[in-house]
Amino acid sequence: MRKQIAAANWKMNLTLQKGEELLDAILAIPQELKTNQAAIFAVPFPYLAMAKQKVAGKQNVFIAAQNCYSKLNGAYTGETSVEMLQSLGIQYVIIGHSERREYFNESNQLLAEKVNICLENNITPIFCCGEALEIREANGQNAFVANQLEQSLFHLSAEEIVKVVIAYEPIWAIGTGKTATSNQAQEIHAFIRAEFAAKYGEAIANNISILYGGSVKANNAVELFSQPDVDGGLVGGASLNATEFVAIINALK
Ligand code: PGA
Repeated sequence: MRKQIAAANWKMNLTLQKGEELLDAILAIPQELKTNQAAIFAVPFPYLAMAKQKVAGKQNVFIAAQNCYSKLNGAYTGETSVEMLQSLGIQYVIIGHSERREYFNESNQLLAEKVNICLENNITPIFCCGEALEIREANGQNAFVANQLEQSLFHLSAEEIVKVVIAYEPIWAIGTGKTATSNQAQEIHAFIRAEFAAKYGEAIANNISILYGGSVKANNAVELFSQPDVDGGLVGGASLNATEFVAIINALK
């Protein structure tokens, strides 16, 4: 089902204690999530169990990992498998964040394997795509994103693709305070949805959630999320502040 999602990406921030305090503060502020809405917290691996416990019994609130490995188990020192995540009750994992693509050389091919292993193990991938500034300046964003989708997702069946959440995150807007305008976001989200429609048909495309990421804040979330093809946001910096993030959750359609 196409959901409206506010997803927090804590990245490599906060200690266990600070993370607990932040979750407590957010969960203490009353917020009504409708059945088609979800709040997701992508926390660092060592905090997954704590976070999972904190949200136990909360409707439409989920915990995500920020990454996973492409193999099920074995001699891969330092890696985390989907089986491990599943054993903690984790239902979502961010796949292919631009920071992982850039600093850890994650290729479209590797990300296809990660998406596969998530789906095979009933974990929803939040698949990130998006272009760098030079590409945007040369107006090459559509072709660039289309290629990311093609290489990492288009091998999936229609039944599988509706289980994937997309996060479009222009790299030039991440952590820079430079948000895409709501028109820019709508334009490329509509393009992404059209790509899914061309490959899988309109009905499937209309069932896929496409989140926007890149300097989403309380003061721009309503405008961004009001766009017809923007189904919420993947939020870094502003997700580390309780009142900011609750305002972003409340900005969901
Ligand atoms: P930002 O990060 O909100 O700090 O720009 C977004 C992201 O990287 O997911």
